[in-house]
Amino acid sequence: MQGSDEDLSSWFDRHKEAIERSYLVGDDPYLQSGWASTPERWLWARRVILKAVPHSGSFFDIGCANGLLLECLVQWANEQGVRLEPHGIDFSEALVELARTRLPAFADNLAVANAHDWQPQRAFDYVHTLLEYVPEALQQEYLDRLLRQAVLGGGRLIVSSYSSRRTGRAALDVASRLGSLGFRVEGDALSHDEDGWVLTHTTWLGKSSVTPFGITGPML
Ligand SMILES: C[S@@+](CC[C@H](N)C(=O)[O-])C[C@H]1O[C@@H](n2cnc3c(N)ncnc32)[C@H](O)[C@@H]1O
Repeated sequence: MQGSDEDLSSWFDRHKEAIERSYLVGDDPYLQSGWASTPERWLWARRVILKAVPHSGSFFDIGCANGLLLECLVQWANEQGVRLEPHGIDFSEALVELARTRLPAFADNLAVANAHDWQPQRAFDYVHTLLEYVPEALQQEYLDRLLRQAVLGGGRLIVSSYSSRRTGRAALDVASRLGSLGFRVEGDALSHDEDGWVLTHTTWLGKSSVTPFGITGPML
């Protein structure tokens, strides 16, 4: 992809349109979070994210869609005695509206913003993202900025990749990708289908995983 502002803006527009076309076709809360399989497999595919969440704190989901992941993580963590305060952004106004309805007590924690130029007003214990929210050439800078500006000291930046059985798309080996971008990975976890197909690859970084490149300025 060429790097002009116009190219970048149309890249995001295309992604947002495609997501709204497929997520907003009906009332199914799973589809509204991009999940086209059963609730049982959703639990299996998403609960693994909690491996990166050892204690209570604030949890920020970048690309929160209709808020289903936040709602589920709060509940699953609670069952393990871990209390999470949910926060999120999404670049789709319609999805953020749904998320506010799903999590009314936390409506003020949910906002419309593009991950690429989101300016966090504070930092969080856990920040969760997918790499595909920004073009490949910008991913190193994106993660570097999140680690510096959005993650609290002692907190974690959690990066996941999901497969799609329907389209045959495999989950990315996120740990290797982050390593190749110069980050020191603190830990990672996988969830599998019974036949070994990787559903989710979740990896986490800490403040000290930040690259030596120092692209975006001082740590908070
Ligand atoms: C696969 S869903 C993820 C839902 C949930 N966070 C999860 O992990 O299950 C991706 C969401 O990210 C949002 N998204 C994609 N690119 C984004 C960007 N650049 N900024 C903000 N949101 C973005 C989409 O609108 C969509 O709701």
